Amino acid sequence: MNKYIVRASMVGTCVGGAILLKDYTGGGSCQSKASITGQTVIVTGANTGIGKETALELAKRGGRIIMACRDMGKCENAAREIRGKTLNHNVFAKQLDLASSKSIKEFAKTMINEEEHVDILINNAAVMRCPYWKTEDNFEMQFGVNHLGHFLLTNLLLKKMKESGNSRIINVSSLAHIAGDIDFDDLNWEKKKFNTKAAYCQSKLANVIFTNELAKRLQGTKVTANSLHPGVAETELGRHTGMHQSAFSSTILAPLFWFVVKSPKQAAQPSVYLAVAEELQGVSGKYFNGLKEKKPAPQALDEETARKLWEESARLVHLDEALSECKAL
Ligand SMILES: NC(=O)c1ccc[n+]([C@@H]2O[C@H](COP(=O)([O-])OP(=O)(O)OC[C@H]3O[C@@H](n4cnc5c(N)ncnc54)[C@H](OP(=O)(O)O)[C@@H]3O)[C@@H](O)[C@H]2O)c1
Repeated sequence: MNKYIVRASMVGTCVGGAILLKDYTGGGSCQSKASITGQTVIVTGANTGIGKETALELAKRGGRIIMACRDMGKCENAAREIRGKTLNHNVFAKQLDLASSKSIKEFAKTMINEEEHVDILINNAAVMRCPYWKTEDNFEMQFGVNHLGHFLLTNLLLKKMKESGNSRIINVSSLAHIAGDIDFDDLNWEKKKFNTKAAYCQSKLANVIFTNELAKRLQGTKVTANSLHPGVAETELGRHTGMHQSAFSSTILAPLFWFVVKSPKQAAQPSVYLAVAEELQGVSGKYFNGLKEKKPAPQALDEETARKLWEESARLVHLDEALSECKAL
């Protein structure tokens, strides 16, 4: 074989291997053909990234899609794009800022009063590694948006979801939860030096713990709760890390990471799978890595931590008052 053929075949093998590797890390597509016509789905943070692709995929399956976003301009644009692509006109943009309990309560009231039922809630929105910012209610931004905001929203919609019959709650967490630790002494980083990476990991660990405790409290109802890691995907999530905008990242790292990084569409598959798969009816309290059920990190399975996190979260968001204000008891 001459040296050019050898080189060409080596390149071919590498590219072929890379494509196989990408297929593998892509985690596969949701194989269920289930239609969700007539079902109402709420997706938080649906204007971009994984949330937008999740909304698109579920709109294709005939769902009534509520895209819950903080920026109405971006949300309307994304909703219009999805309606155009799917010809599903039941795709709506609604205002929800998870960094504001006032906004969460307004959104929940609208859902309770205007929707006949809520069948699928996908808690997808998140902020990652932002500076030390506070929410309107004075919570550290990542803990406040990623965990407390979804904790409050979910609880306000629970009665509606129980009344809706078989319904599913899906919490989008991250593999980053394995590096997380719940610091009950300082959940909002007011005493110790702020570490933006650790704050993100704490919030994503809280997503898994909350899911498990919720599933436990939902036993005997027709509502299920599961959490997932979508895979590493090329989205706007890294917007606060600096890496996102650097020349090194786009010219050197991006081509290397192309092999392992999913597209938002691929990363939406686990959320779609958990939302529609017939075989997951009744499955609750599980964690999925991509499309596969996996054991989460040991600290995510501690029942005492789960009970304590629930109580502390309920105290911080004034859950009892919020429930009676929204007539969601
Ligand atoms: N991408 C990954 O590699 C990866 C890996 C593991 C887990 N995840 C998880 O996947 C989920 C989706 O992330 P993504 O990668 O698609 O990120 P993304 O492109 O940055 O999208 C995040 C979404 O959350 C919204 N959001 C942020 N703060 C909000 C607030 N206060 N109220 C309402 N919405 C808010 C954003 O709205 P704006 O556009 O207005 O900011 C955006 O719509 C997250 O839970 C993330 O932790 C992602």
